[in-house]
Amino acid sequence: MEIITTVKNMQTLSGKLHKNRYIGFVPTMGFLHRGHLSLVDRARSMSDIVVVSIFVNPKQFGPSEDIKTYPRDFEHDRRLLEEVECDILFYPDVGDFYPQGYSTNVEVEGFDTTLCGARRHGHMRGVATVCMKLFNIVRPQLAVFGEKDYQQVIMIKKMVSDTNLDIEIVTSPTVREDDGLAVSSRNIYLNNRERKDAAVLYQALLFGKKLIEEGENDAYKVVKAIQNMIEKKTTARIEYIEVVDSQNLKLVERIEGPVLLALAVYFGRTRLIDSIVVIPERFQRR
Ligand code: PAF
Repeated sequence: MEIITTVKNMQTLSGKLHKNRYIGFVPTMGFLHRGHLSLVDRARSMSDIVVVSIFVNPKQFGPSEDIKTYPRDFEHDRRLLEEVECDILFYPDVGDFYPQGYSTNVEVEGFDTTLCGARRHGHMRGVATVCMKLFNIVRPQLAVFGEKDYQQVIMIKKMVSDTNLDIEIVTSPTVREDDGLAVSSRNIYLNNRERKDAAVLYQALLFGKKLIEEGENDAYKVVKAIQNMIEKKTTARIEYIEVVDSQNLKLVERIEGPVLLALAVYFGRTRLIDSIVVIPERFQRR
């Protein structure tokens, strides 16, 4: 695996490769786990060259979020990427990526009013900006994102379509632990009690899904049912539970088509997100 640490060198290499090789790209912020590796596998199965980036992007951290405490372990990440036969690791530093005087941001309108976008000020814009820059530097024909960050995936697809980028955006299912907890870099912050409690998130989402599948059309009732389950089983603090249209992420009151059930919940100081898409049979096209 080749490790590239400057924007210039990455651009030179990708400029050459892009001409006759199909580049599959997986952007990450490092501290890799099974979820990331599943994205690399996906990229591998669909491209000639796999590039993974590790870059903890300061622009997507809100004013009250501490980038310094974001978990990092470069050696561990490097070893994992060697094992899954990643071809190129792009590992730039912040000063090179956003040089002094950097002033351009990418904003995909409408993503800061629901879900995480509404709570993490500047987050979605930070993600769009870093992805646009990474796409220009790495020049992939394909990029793989995890469905766990569902809002991010929908936004990136919109950005790519709106700006005519010639990149196929591929999604990969959320990887879960045996008890259903979505695999995340943040799970290491959970103590034993919190880790056990956190399994409720997926159970509660599945419960909401069941209600919808059994005929519930009132989004408020579904949200309440999910909330009650989490509150009954844990002392976690709910940031949001929302039912949104699975395509445009707009809040829905009546469920009349495919929806996303999404939530963000704090276990102690650790904020976890999860979501599932529900496509009730009564709304499926025959
Ligand atoms: O999903 C992430 O890890 C980040 O948001 C991404 C896409 C690497 C951008 O920094």
